[in-house]
Amino acid sequence: MTTADAARAAEEFLRNLHNRAPEAMGRYVAAHRLPDGRTSYQFLAERVAGARRVLDLGCGDGALLAVLARDGATGLAGVDISEGELAVARRRPELVDADLREARAQELPFAEDSFDAVVCHMALMLMADVEQVIAETARVLRPGGRLAVVVGARSAEGSGLELFLELARPLFAQRPIPPLGDRRTRSRDGLNELLTAAGFASITWEEITLGGSGTPEQVWDNAIEKYYDTTTLAAEEIAALRREFLARAAALTEDGLLTRGERSAVATTRLPASR
Ligand SMILES: C[S@@+](CC[C@H](N)C(=O)[O-])C[C@H]1O[C@@H](n2cnc3c(N)ncnc32)[C@H](O)[C@@H]1O
Repeated sequence: MTTADAARAAEEFLRNLHNRAPEAMGRYVAAHRLPDGRTSYQFLAERVAGARRVLDLGCGDGALLAVLARDGATGLAGVDISEGELAVARRRPELVDADLREARAQELPFAEDSFDAVVCHMALMLMADVEQVIAETARVLRPGGRLAVVVGARSAEGSGLELFLELARPLFAQRPIPPLGDRRTRSRDGLNELLTAAGFASITWEEITLGGSGTPEQVWDNAIEKYYDTTTLAAEEIAALRREFLARAAALTEDGLLTRGERSAVATTRLPASR
């Protein structure tokens, strides 16, 4: 399979999945908050505070764009390859004036210097040909424009998600999904190199812990929605995994609740003030 074929297969997989189950990410984010109650959407929106024209790459159901709209951004745009996600975004009252397009982040349908900021929440690390995505981002940003990206989301030690992964990984290994994205986006060094090569400067990194607690059933629902790999499992495999998860989770609960900890990384950077 050529690299282009692999990229197409990965996008097809993502498109179908998000068309079938839009809004899953928004539910997940709402259930995993910073210690002060903010969501990672709010945290990311604050990284581009004051920007008026903002583009969201892989905007999904528009939850982050809605936060930006409530924070005062007026020239909002989003691209996503899933029409199902975009249909949900278009129904949001905050986004009636937003420019929402079914498009690939590798081929942004916008002119040069169209945006003061670009944001991307948990989507960059799924994208093929990431050099092209970052080059397109630099093209549509104005000089001095900002880019803020959330990547990562690793389950924290002792969390319900960690237990889920311990039990699910052997099954995932038997039914692999198409390889998604470019692993360089999952490390600081890798992403720093990609951003610097495209002309971005002053890169800062912040670690955020997203947590809270939930009943084992809630943590199970979140995990099933979060991991794309679960979509290749047969119904009986999922039922057996659920039984095992709930049995093992019972030993980890405190007052009937499991911790949901997860760590993400947020990179913020900008273009030089003149090209
Ligand atoms: C994990 S979801 C995150 C959605 C949204 N950013 C959020 O956090 O709620 C990843 C999103 O990226 C979109 N996506 C994946 N590859 C893409 C690409 N090459 N161009 C545009 N969108 C893409 C998917 O359709 C999906 O909606």
